[in-house]
Amino acid sequence: MRVLVTGASGFVGGYLIEELLRRGHMPVAMVRKGSDAARLKEVGVECRTGDLTDPESLVAVVKGADAVIHLAAYYSFTGKRELYEMINVEGTRHLMDAMLANGVKRLLYCSSTEVMGPTPDPPADESAPCHPIYEYGHSKLRAEEMVRDYAKKGIEPTIVRPSGIYGPRNLEDVSFWFITTFANSIVSRFIIGSGKKKLQFVHVEDVAQAFALALERPEVSNGQTYIVTDERAYNYKEIYDILARIFRKDPPRRHLPVALAKLIAAPVQAINAIRGKQNFIWRVQTMDTFKVDRWYSIEKVRRELGYSPRYKLEEGLRQTVRWYEQNGYIPS
Ligand SMILES: NC(=O)c1ccc[n+]([C@@H]2O[C@H](COP(=O)([O-])OP(=O)(O)OC[C@H]3O[C@@H](n4cnc5c(N)ncnc54)[C@H](OP(=O)(O)O)[C@@H]3O)[C@@H](O)[C@H]2O)c1
Repeated sequence: MRVLVTGASGFVGGYLIEELLRRGHMPVAMVRKGSDAARLKEVGVECRTGDLTDPESLVAVVKGADAVIHLAAYYSFTGKRELYEMINVEGTRHLMDAMLANGVKRLLYCSSTEVMGPTPDPPADESAPCHPIYEYGHSKLRAEEMVRDYAKKGIEPTIVRPSGIYGPRNLEDVSFWFITTFANSIVSRFIIGSGKKKLQFVHVEDVAQAFALALERPEVSNGQTYIVTDERAYNYKEIYDILARIFRKDPPRRHLPVALAKLIAAPVQAINAIRGKQNFIWRVQTMDTFKVDRWYSIEKVRRELGYSPRYKLEEGLRQTVRWYEQNGYIPS
């Protein structure tokens, strides 16, 4: 299938392009002026230039596609409000209008479990109510709703909601900060909160697998939504134990109450802001995530798409840490 992939120059996009090529599809990469497309060119994929904020540019980009996988997004938990609306919501609208202008109907929209927010009654499935915490999640939710609404105009959508994604080449992102903060700071000596709350990462190759499976099943392009994540959730203590084994450190045993962690995070966050540095873990608001579950069911995606995560968390984290070490993000 000839598939246009937006966000192809991003973390997930690179893996998805490779997965589509492996499965015999013909991906076409949408990149921006100034995107780093070196890797895409290396694998010999056609690159077309388009920007979600420039509706006209999208019309030519979409031409001739059998389907569009829309990954491109303003992906940040600490970004500017107007950009979420402009890129994640309006950009998705412009893309769908360009598809309709070209007679392209199939859309796989990359959402996020962040649209659901914390899961008070885990494991949450696709029918769970959506209560996003961050403006990022709100914008992805508004885009989801709009994508479903465009079915009336002829778009045939499938919505994929990955949880937090990790893997080699993931930089300046939640899992990157989680791993590197554990490796590099005294945080590795403490469990923030009870350590009993669960979260669920997913390996980037498993996300690529899920998109390819959805693409190959046209019958799910009737507005179906799929949560895509790991085999199971892990509580924070288990994740710290895994990281401790990987880094050959003693696992943390002492608990730091969330309120105290917030007091410590406040000046660190302020210093990071002054230095223009980002670290999602060292933020006051982030400390609340240690008090809630983010734990999901993959029953539907297994049953309907035949999805089966290939990576166990420990194996995937080992591979990722090795990549960070080899590329100088963590001292080896
Ligand atoms: N990473 C996660 O943990 C995670 C979890 C759940 C869902 N998701 C979703 O997965 C998708 C891919 O995320 P990612 O981790 O691969 O993010 P990423 O590495 O930041 O990639 C974002 C991509 O979007 C492109 N982009 C941004 N603004 C654009 C615009 N105005 N027009 C066209 N392209 C634009 C970027 O292009 P440039 O290369 O030019 O910047 C880049 O290719 C996103 O929809 C995100 O919401 C991510």
